[in-house]
Amino acid sequence: SVVEERLRAMNEATNDDLSKLTDAEMKGFVELYARYMVGRSKKKEISWDLIQQPSENMLQKYSTLPDVTEGECTSLLSKLAVMKLNGGLGTSMGCKGPKSVIEVRGDTTFLDLIVQQIEHLNKTYPGANVPLLLMNSFNTDAETTKIIQKYQDTNVTITTFQQSRYPRIIKESLEPMPVTHEGYAHSDWYPPGHGDFFQSIYASGLVDTLLAQGKEYIFVSNVDNLGATVDLNILKNIVQRNVEYCMELTDKTRADIKGGTIISYDGKVSLLEVAQVPAKYIEEFKSVSKFKVFNTNNIWVSLRAIKRVMQEGTMKLDIIVNNKEVNGQKVIQLETAIGAAIGYFNNACGVNVPRSRFLPVKSTSDLLLMQSNMYTLKSGSLIMNPARQFATTPVIKLGTEFKKVGQYLERFGSIPDVLELDHLTVSGDVSFGANTSLKGTVIVVANPGNKIMIPAGSVIENKVVVGSLHV
Ligand code: UTP
Repeated sequence: SVVEERLRAMNEATNDDLSKLTDAEMKGFVELYARYMVGRSKKKEISWDLIQQPSENMLQKYSTLPDVTEGECTSLLSKLAVMKLNGGLGTSMGCKGPKSVIEVRGDTTFLDLIVQQIEHLNKTYPGANVPLLLMNSFNTDAETTKIIQKYQDTNVTITTFQQSRYPRIIKESLEPMPVTHEGYAHSDWYPPGHGDFFQSIYASGLVDTLLAQGKEYIFVSNVDNLGATVDLNILKNIVQRNVEYCMELTDKTRADIKGGTIISYDGKVSLLEVAQVPAKYIEEFKSVSKFKVFNTNNIWVSLRAIKRVMQEGTMKLDIIVNNKEVNGQKVIQLETAIGAAIGYFNNACGVNVPRSRFLPVKSTSDLLLMQSNMYTLKSGSLIMNPARQFATTPVIKLGTEFKKVGQYLERFGSIPDVLELDHLTVSGDVSFGANTSLKGTVIVVANPGNKIMIPAGSVIENKVVVGSLHV
């Protein structure tokens, strides 16, 4: 193909190895690009009529999973490897470097917590030797490699590999970036989404390495999901039922309109994403009555099955077109998602898990909750405070003045007591003194030009605090 020739010529012309695409990347990109170009002319729409509720086998309730006896744990865990999707940066929360190195509890980072969890498993079940893998992107690899040295003395073997790096595509001409560039510009490239996991782990050789160590399953999750801990009931279930791919889904609330949901499509288990939904069905898709659960991106996959599917070369995940503007130029990134792979595996299924397995930190509002007394830490896992009277956690909405972690930390003298909080909305130039306590519904709005300082030690219950011009 023309694109392939151009990329090859570009590769040959560059001296610096960093700028070159590997053979696997070249092949992956050329294939993805070709599929995109073909798909543009004949877009296949989903037939709404073929969508049915997943059967009980396709979506199992967590409470129906088999119990695990103490004696089974080591043998089950010895089959498992844990992997975190570590390609993302902390940019959206105003942090430099990989997102996984943001401090989430005191000075403990996402990665620290993950290592603590696995350290605990390996200590409790000697012989399990659960390894930790990190799939880095070219954005996170160098710094992650440096940072993980601090875990050298733990009982956790950490292995990293790099996911693919593809050229961005100029929106107007649909030509891949490097064609018009000389040498290496960081902004010419992107990591093509977590669907790239299959290709990248296979190309790294790690699938065979793990299989040779007796590992059979890999548990993959977002590095920023603090609820994605190893669960032995799920592991036992997939081993027993010979499940090759298991997706954890949790009950949708009205706030969760983004995630994909599991469906039976033409009799097969499948994932339905908002991007696939025809415009006239969007409201139906978002409603919680018909599509009750959504994908947490906690995914368990058989390593042998990954090997088979990759060798067959049949996996063609739906392409997500991500529009961006980079240095004033409109570009597109072709991405894929790991959840879309559910249809390529035998005995694939979903498990409807409790919300506690989905504790993502996407914003400082999420961070406030995770750092607060709503949770306690036990061996690296967050446990909801038993003193909380309700099963649900508060809805927290901090305004743009709190967007960056640095700003957020400056605006709270200490993390408030939120044990009895239902809802917090903060907007404008607001600060909280140390040891405040927030209960019920609390709304604090400082109008433009005003400042509100909640005094240290205040107890605010079911109150709206609005800054007038004369505060
Ligand atoms: P996202 O940035 O995709 O988060 O990263 P999201 O908005 O919740 O998206 P979805 O709906 O799950 O896609 C999710 C996880 O995937 C990793 C990120 O580091 C994060 O842990 N990721 C994402 C990669 O490792 N590589 C990628 O190319 C994209």
